[in-house]
Amino acid sequence: MTTVIVALGGSLLRPEIEERHTWLEGLVSIIRDRVSMDDRIGIVVGGGAPAREGIELARALISDESHLDKIGIAATRLNATIVREALSDSGIPVSGTIPKSIDEAVLLLEKRQVVVMGGTNPGHTTDAVAIRFAISSNAERCIIATNVPKVFDEDPKKNPTARSYDFLTHRQLLEIVGTSVHSKAGDSQVVDPIGAQEAHDCEMPLNILDGRKIELIKEAIIGGDFKGTKIGVSKS
Ligand code: UTP
Repeated sequence: MTTVIVALGGSLLRPEIEERHTWLEGLVSIIRDRVSMDDRIGIVVGGGAPAREGIELARALISDESHLDKIGIAATRLNATIVREALSDSGIPVSGTIPKSIDEAVLLLEKRQVVVMGGTNPGHTTDAVAIRFAISSNAERCIIATNVPKVFDEDPKKNPTARSYDFLTHRQLLEIVGTSVHSKAGDSQVVDPIGAQEAHDCEMPLNILDGRKIELIKEAIIGGDFKGTKIGVSKS
């Protein structure tokens, strides 16, 4: 029995993602297969478009970043509800509620094979939630499904010659993502530095990949080779 936690970037549910219904069906099918193999899977869903829209609308009136974070958290829970309902309607044994804390999520994962959640508290993103969930549930690894193919040394959208990596140690990842502070609600990096720091401290392996390609999520959950960046103590 393997326990894996998957962070699904909220951008994966966006209307711009081609074939997003097929993508969601693919996700349901992967989870169904893994459940039949006795895996336990925690899914942490990001806020994507509703988080950004909500935060942008309220920013003119609200200056406390933690209050804006709450809007982001509400969006992550909306997206988590979409994923939870899709799994539940397919007969997958998913927890009936969306937990609000890591402790609650860990308890639920002991009772059900699949738990879906969004954010918890202000001050970080769902990557950090997924990494904490992985550490607290003694998961084998945490998969971060995002919208870039690999970790780059610079933002590839700003610098097309940025270098990408197949493998990094936790320390090298920290050098790329920078200090573990949550400066602004809605700000996004390839991996939340707060989560990256905790993964480093607890030596939690991370698999970072392009979640738009559903087969990569499947390969990473199974534990095989996948195109993306592995973060760990050693390459094996
Ligand atoms: P996300 O996890 O979606 O952040 O949370 P993101 O980096 O923008 O991720 P993608 O693009 O969906 O992959 C959205 C915002 O919600 C707040 C933060 O403000 C975050 O930027 N949030 C989320 C929290 O404050 N706490 C949480 O536990 C989760």
